[in-house]
Amino acid sequence: RWTTFSICSPKVCIVGSGPAGFYTAQHLIKVDIYERLPVPFGLVRFGVAPDHPEVKNVINTFTLTARNSRCSFYGNVNVGKDVSIEELQQAYHAVVLSYGAEGNRRMGVPGEDLAGVYSAKDFVGWYNGLPSCQELSPDLNCETAVILGQGNVALDVARILLAPTDILKKTDITQPALEALVQSQVRRVLIVGRRGPMQVACTIKEFREMVNLPDTRPEMMADDFEGVKEALKDLPRPRKRLTELMMKTALEIPSEKEQERQSKASRVWAFRFLRSPIEILANPDNSRTVGIRLAVNRLEGSGDGARAVPTGEVEDVTCGLLISSIGYKSLPIDPSVPFDSHKAIVPNNMGRVQHTAGLYCSGWLKTGPTGVIATTMNNSFDTARSVVEDMESGTVDVSAARPGSQSISGLLEERGVKPVTFSNWEKIDSLEMSRGEASGKPREKLLTVEEMLQHLTWTELILYTLKGNPMFFIMDAIINKLLQCKSIQMV
Ligand SMILES: Cc1cc2nc3c(=O)[nH]c(=O)nc-3n(C[C@H](O)[C@H](O)[C@H](O)COP(=O)(O)OP(=O)(O)OC[C@H]3O[C@@H](n4cnc5c(N)ncnc54)[C@H](O)[C@@H]3O)c2cc1C
Ligand SMILES: NC(=O)c1ccc[n+]([C@@H]2O[C@H](COP(=O)([O-])OP(=O)(O)OC[C@H]3O[C@@H](n4cnc5c(N)ncnc54)[C@H](OP(=O)(O)O)[C@@H]3O)[C@@H](O)[C@H]2O)c1
Ligand SMILES: *[C@@H]1O[C@H](CO)[C@@H](O)[C@H](O)[C@H]1NC(C)=O
Repeated sequence: RWTTFSICSPKVCIVGSGPAGFYTAQHLIKVDIYERLPVPFGLVRFGVAPDHPEVKNVINTFTLTARNSRCSFYGNVNVGKDVSIEELQQAYHAVVLSYGAEGNRRMGVPGEDLAGVYSAKDFVGWYNGLPSCQELSPDLNCETAVILGQGNVALDVARILLAPTDILKKTDITQPALEALVQSQVRRVLIVGRRGPMQVACTIKEFREMVNLPDTRPEMMADDFEGVKEALKDLPRPRKRLTELMMKTALEIPSEKEQERQSKASRVWAFRFLRSPIEILANPDNSRTVGIRLAVNRLEGSGDGARAVPTGEVEDVTCGLLISSIGYKSLPIDPSVPFDSHKAIVPNNMGRVQHTAGLYCSGWLKTGPTGVIATTMNNSFDTARSVVEDMESGTVDVSAARPGSQSISGLLEERGVKPVTFSNWEKIDSLEMSRGEASGKPREKLLTVEEMLQHLTWTELILYTLKGNPMFFIMDAIINKLLQCKSIQMV
C-alpha cells in the first residue's frame, strides 16, 4: 500500500544480531535485523564469560542503535528455514550475512561422542543459558578435567570450572550451572595444546587471571620452558610479555605470601604442551570417558608458524571430563549462498560475497571464528563501507523500489512465525534483571525459547492492535519519507 513512499529508499537487511550485525547496522541508516533467537547480541550474551561483565557494555551501544527508528529488530526468525536468503534478496537491495559461527571444529578422533566429552561451544552455551544447550547437564563428578586447546575460550572454561562459586554466584551464570558447579568434584584442570609455550593462542590478561584465580595454584612444568629464554628477544612485544609471565609462573619461586596462598589452594590448573589427541579412552562398558590418549609432538619451524609433528611417543591422561576447545566453525544456512567448506567461511572480498551482487558478509562468518569484539567491529565497518560504496557507484541498483520488511512480514505470518520486536526483547530484559535482583545477580536468564515467547503475549496483543490502526501506517510512512533518498550513508 505504501510502497510508493519508499521508491528511492534503499532497503538493507542483516542476518544475525551479534556484534557483527550491530556494528554493520551502526553505519547504515535504515536496516532490518533478522535474528534466529527471540533475544539479541549473539556471543555477547551467550559466549562472553559471566565473570567478565565489563565486556558486555557494548550492549549499551547496540541498544541505542536498535532503539533508533532507523533500525528494526525481528527476533525469533530463523533465516534459511523460516525465510530463505533468496526471499530476502528479492525484498531488499542488499542483504548482509552476519550469523556467526554456530558449529565447532571436531577433533576427529575415536570416542569423541562418549559421555563426559563436550565441545567448549556447548559447555559455554550451557553455563551462559543458550536454549539449545540446556540439556547438556555436564557430569562434573570427577577429579580431573582436560581441556584441549589453549585459546581464550579454553581459559574461560578453565576459570568457570575452578572459580570459587562465591564469585560466580554474583554473575549472570545460569542457576542450573551454578548449582552443578557448587556440587562439582573437579579439582584439577589440564589445558592441553598441540604446540609449545610460544604458540599458545590465549592473551596475557586472561592468563594473568588464571595466575590470580583465588583458591587455585598453577602446576606448570619447568622442562617445557627449556630454550624459551633464548628465543624471547625475537618475539613481538605482546607475545614476549605473555611468554615471560608463563616462564615466571613455571620457573620462579613465588614470594612467601604467594607460597602461603598456594599451599592453601584446593584446586590446581596447568598447561601441557606438545600433545595432540589420538583417542578418547572409554570405561569397560564403553559408556563414558575415563581419559585421553595423546600423541607427543615436537615442533618443526619456529614462531607462530611452527608445526606440531608427532614423535611416535604416546601418553595417556586420566580424566572424567574432556572439553574440546579447538575453535568454533561457521555453517552454511542456505544452499544458494556460496560457502567455502574448507575455510568454513563465506568467500568474500571486503565483505562482498563472491559472484553475488547485493550480498555481503561480516563478523566471524566473514573472517573465520577468531578475533575479539573489536576485531569483529573493524571488519563489520569495512563491510558497511562496501555496501555504501556499491550503492553509490551503482554496482548495486537501488533505482527500483523493494518492499523490504513488508513482504517478509507477510511471508512469516503465512508460515506462522511471530517475530519478536526490540521492545519485546526489552520486556524480557527487564524481567531477567528483576529476577536476578532477587538473588543478588545482575540477571537471571530465561532458559528456553518457549519461556521467552510466553512472556510476550500481552505486549504482542497491544502491538497488533496498533498495527491495525491506520494512523500507525500513516505515521510510519511519513517517517520513512523523511528518511528516504539519502537513507543509506555512513553516519
Ligand atoms: C566463548 C567466547 C567468549 C568470548 N569472549 C570474548 C571477550 O571476553 N571479549 C571479546 O572481545 N571477545 C570475546 N569473544 C569473541 C566475540 O564473541 C566475537 O568476536 C563476536 O561475537 C563475533 O561476532 P558475530 O556477530 O560474527 O557472531 P555472533 O556473536 O555469534 O552472532 C551471530 C548471531 O547470529 C544469529 N544467527 C545464527 N544463525 C542464524 C540464522 N540462521 N538466522 C538468523 N540469525 C542467526 C545468532 O543467534 C547470533 O545472535 C568470545 C567468543 C567466544 C566464543
Ligand atoms: N577474554 C577474551 O578476550 C576472549 C575470551 C574468549 C574468546 N575470545 C576470542 O575469541 C576467539 C576464539 O577463541 P578460541 O579459543 O575458540 O580460538 P583460538 O584462539 O583460535 O584457539 C584455538 C586453540 O585450539 C587449538 N587447535 C585448533 N585446532 C586444533 C586441533 N585440530 N587439535 C588440537 N588443537 C587445536 C589451537 O592451537 P593451534 O594454535 O596450534 O592451532 C588453539 O590453541 C579468539 O580470537 C579469542 O581471543 C576472547
Ligand atoms: C581497529 O581499527 C582501528 C583503526 O583502524 C585500529 O587502531 C585498531 O587497532 C583495530 N583493532 C583491532 C582489534 O583490530
